[in-house]
Amino acid sequence: MRKIGYLGLAGLILAGLAFGHNVAIVSDSLQDREVARLLKWVLAFAVVIFGGVAGTLAYAVYRFRSRPGDTGLPPQFRENPRLEITLTVIPLVIVLILFVLTAQALVKINRPIAGALGVEVTARQFWWDFKIPEEGIRLSSELVVPVGRPVEAKLTSADVIHSFWVPSLAGKTDAIPGQVTYNRFMVTHPGNYYGFCAELCGPSHAQMRFRVLALDPKDYRRFVEALKAYRAPEPQTPEQRRGQKLFLSRCAACHTVKGTPAAGVIGPDLSILGNRVSLASGVLKNTPANLVRWIKDPAAVKPGAKMPAFKDQLSDADLEALAAYLESLKLPGFDFAALPKY
Ligand code: CUA
Repeated sequence: MRKIGYLGLAGLILAGLAFGHNVAIVSDSLQDREVARLLKWVLAFAVVIFGGVAGTLAYAVYRFRSRPGDTGLPPQFRENPRLEITLTVIPLVIVLILFVLTAQALVKINRPIAGALGVEVTARQFWWDFKIPEEGIRLSSELVVPVGRPVEAKLTSADVIHSFWVPSLAGKTDAIPGQVTYNRFMVTHPGNYYGFCAELCGPSHAQMRFRVLALDPKDYRRFVEALKAYRAPEPQTPEQRRGQKLFLSRCAACHTVKGTPAAGVIGPDLSILGNRVSLASGVLKNTPANLVRWIKDPAAVKPGAKMPAFKDQLSDADLEALAAYLESLKLPGFDFAALPKY
């Protein structure tokens, strides 16, 4: 029993360390700073309450321990109004203080921000789609935003309830079918921020990840203009040409690649797959080998994925050609893998 207790304690400490690294405390957005401030108050009260209760208990155990020669029951009493009122008023005051602080933080976090960059986020089993109407661009699985400008993510879901969460940027917000919810954040320095789905949504809930890539405003502008003008480059090698042919016949019904006849919207936009840091919605590192592995049998990487397996339809050479073509789709001059990770 004691061992289980120690294990539990160790787990809690580890969880605390992980949280300390990942969530709220190493905060990177103005919204998250509010949550971090709140957390400090809650922790301070928790320490005081724990100290008070545990201290009183320890004192009572020591002070009123049984001594040699003690006989019968110690003195008994029934009520102590002063103690009871104190024990009611103290928690009430603490809860009221936390209520006011929480309400203030919520108002600040939920206030619409003038001049924010609007991003339409659609959650699907098991990936994320991003549209930035103001720029006229669509990105899948990896959202690119500028540093220093507030972002207003307008969330919805195409199937079940998901939850949008980038631990280092802001709290989580549910993405609900038929409804619109908002998650607001502002990134304060460039980086590659991990995002997760935080609502159990099916067999690959834990694999429903994404990235927020925050760029300097200048780099962001350059990226957006380049993407707006982007047309997929022509295949350069016989292998890429073979890959393109396969792509247009097998994949174009679900996927979009700008500048080609591929305009499907059921699956992620693959226009600049070569620039992505991850594949399969944040699950695999973006390498040709991983891309082959994914196309071969998506469900092996992500159970429940809607994309069919191609292992029986395409040879290994076909798969490699497809990967070579897709990896060639990129905007030159952007290395997102070099961004610091959060
Ligand atoms: Cu989507 Cu969990």
